Amino acid sequence: MAIKCYENLTTEIKKLFKLDTKNTSYVMAVVDEEMFLGHVYYGALLNDYHLGHILRTGEIPFVPSKNNRDRGAFLDTFPMEYPAHGLGDYREDCISIETESGNTGLSLQFVSAEIISGKPALSGLPATFSGNASSDGSVSCGDKEDCSSLEIICEDSSTGLRAALLYTVFEDCDVITRSVRVINGGEKAFYLKRVFSACLDMDNKDFEVVSLHGGWARERQLQRVPVSHGKFSVESLRGESSHQDHPFAALVTKGTGQEQGEVYAMHFVYSGNFKISVQNDQFDQVRMVMGIHPEDFKWQLKPGEEFQAPEAVLVYSGEGLGRMTRTFHDFYRKHLIRGIYKDKKRPILINNWEATYFDFNTEKLIGIAREASRLGIEMLVMDDGWFGKRNNDDCALGDWTVNEEKLPGGLKYLADEINKLGMKFGIWLEPEMISPDSDLYRAHPDWAIAIPGREGTLSRHQYVLDLTREDVLEHTWESISKVLQSANIEYVKWDMNRQLTDIGSAILPAERMGELYHRYVLGVYELQRRLTEQFPNVLLENCSGGGGRFDPGMLYYSPQIWCSDDTDAIERLKIQEGTALIYPLSTMGAHVSDCPNHILGRTVPFETRGHVALSGTFGYELDVTKISGEERDMIPEQTAMYHKYNDLVREGDYYRIASYRENHYFDCCGVVKKDKKEALFTFVQVLGRPNYHSRKICFKGLAPEKYYRIEGEDGVYTGDVLMKAGYLVQNLTGDFKSRLIHIVETEEANG
Ligand code: GLA
Repeated sequence: MAIKCYENLTTEIKKLFKLDTKNTSYVMAVVDEEMFLGHVYYGALLNDYHLGHILRTGEIPFVPSKNNRDRGAFLDTFPMEYPAHGLGDYREDCISIETESGNTGLSLQFVSAEIISGKPALSGLPATFSGNASSDGSVSCGDKEDCSSLEIICEDSSTGLRAALLYTVFEDCDVITRSVRVINGGEKAFYLKRVFSACLDMDNKDFEVVSLHGGWARERQLQRVPVSHGKFSVESLRGESSHQDHPFAALVTKGTGQEQGEVYAMHFVYSGNFKISVQNDQFDQVRMVMGIHPEDFKWQLKPGEEFQAPEAVLVYSGEGLGRMTRTFHDFYRKHLIRGIYKDKKRPILINNWEATYFDFNTEKLIGIAREASRLGIEMLVMDDGWFGKRNNDDCALGDWTVNEEKLPGGLKYLADEINKLGMKFGIWLEPEMISPDSDLYRAHPDWAIAIPGREGTLSRHQYVLDLTREDVLEHTWESISKVLQSANIEYVKWDMNRQLTDIGSAILPAERMGELYHRYVLGVYELQRRLTEQFPNVLLENCSGGGGRFDPGMLYYSPQIWCSDDTDAIERLKIQEGTALIYPLSTMGAHVSDCPNHILGRTVPFETRGHVALSGTFGYELDVTKISGEERDMIPEQTAMYHKYNDLVREGDYYRIASYRENHYFDCCGVVKKDKKEALFTFVQVLGRPNYHSRKICFKGLAPEKYYRIEGEDGVYTGDVLMKAGYLVQNLTGDFKSRLIHIVETEEANG
């Protein structure tokens, strides 16, 4: 049983819930006559004996029924499972409201608990699911019960607010997910001002916090800082999860590395404003919370209404960051990614963005496709600039009709011609946006998110559509579906090239304006739900000015996301390291682009560009008719490599051997097949070093007793030798050089 409930373990502990996965336990207790729900333990698997002793005993005499005189001290120290605002817990709380009379205090008391087999879907939101999503891409959840859930209801008796705390235990995956539904069970309306999805109250174990920060063209850079007194937060108020901060944080014990140390990680399945806060309090207790950012959030709940907060994914690893990474990868591959491409090789694509920018027409695209198909590339993706009068990024977003001057015969003619070459055809869309210079804006200036009476802030010369409005959402859907029905389109790159500002809507009433950010995200989810359900054969790739909305919420709709506009292979090492810390390699949009690189001006050998892109979805972002013959000739070899290795890359266990971010001269990571019969590591020598003889690397994840060969070399090694004594990377001179090391099991002991 993954979920157990014990009654009356001590006089204070009225109930105790123990949630077990294969290697972890999560324990909560209902304490005192007043039924406070406390957080007791999260970490390595515990046995079930004498659990009554695991709640810290020092605080027990302070339970209010025995010492109400010091109720405030109890509330400010007790490890709360879901802390409420304003009655004595001064730490960062998870829920606060404003009543009609303007009051904000809340106290949540345990009412009931129910064990549910499987996992209920979260209304309107992306979420992890039980079982494997069916391969036709259908979105049904809970068809196979390989997890179980616990719903705990807590109530504030004064307002009638009920919080339904949902925990799902994915036993085999070592994952626990959490979410919260708030119900107004009272007789008066109130505003929900804050509703976080998860909280962990723990004793400080000299923690450091690992997070991912960045900016455009340098997304998800790993950062690690000590937890000190006060608060550390990671947050986005940009309307999307953002390039700048990522909805992920992990508390790690000092000295935690890839293979050792304790890690408590939280990841948020949400694509809008978020906040993660880590606070070390006066008693060295650490509280980590995660949820929708409370700033500019205010949701009206009338009697009987509910609010569903998004899901947080919790992973504990007692074996360092590497184990955490592999847990997330397996979990997302199985329980978050859906659709027909879920477990499949994706077509090798060529995208014309860096090849032509806006300067293309049917003839040029067919020319690129013709050459590309000859080289083994399988799909042409037409990027920005095919619609309205869009010849630069100043106009036409919203006018989703084909520009017949550029593309005579329209999308159908082009797609058919591409198909005749034996290639698939894909298209770029930016459905959430509106250019002031567009027919759509001229007809509906009130459809943009804006503060009435104030000129809106332009970003990339565009505004954001007010997807909280039903008419705007329906029109947007109609435009998308019309495009997708007009030709044989088998791939969509869904872009979002600006963040939200000027939060205002022409029709939302004042008392609901605080709902705009979240309603916007729900609108995006609704559009992508329709797209994945009504066009299940389309491969959807999300994108936001590069990797600005690379988050688990978007991953629920698209099995891959464009990682970054920065396609320089060396910068990509850091971006892909940060991304692969949580996301499977099958999700990382990665292409070989032209050099000098368009963003950095750096020139990296074509071979290295190919090796780095092979760790992701793999594709090209250049004009194959214009690159040198020498580079062109390497493409068939690269596409063959993709076919040879992609199953391993998509399905294997990921190991990081060395990080260029840390050592400043080389990078090495790779994947090991689950049965350990094969592995592929990518070694990149960023900077050559003079008179330096040893480049030995110790692989990880192999079977110590197995015999292995390195493809293309003589000799047989044991896994033990390759992992402990290491393997010498030889004859690699120069900067930006790389090598793929393919390790294959062999029967022979001698070689
Ligand atoms: C964004 C994307 C790019 C490209 C452009 C087109 O920046 O990240 O890949 O599609 O938009 O405008």
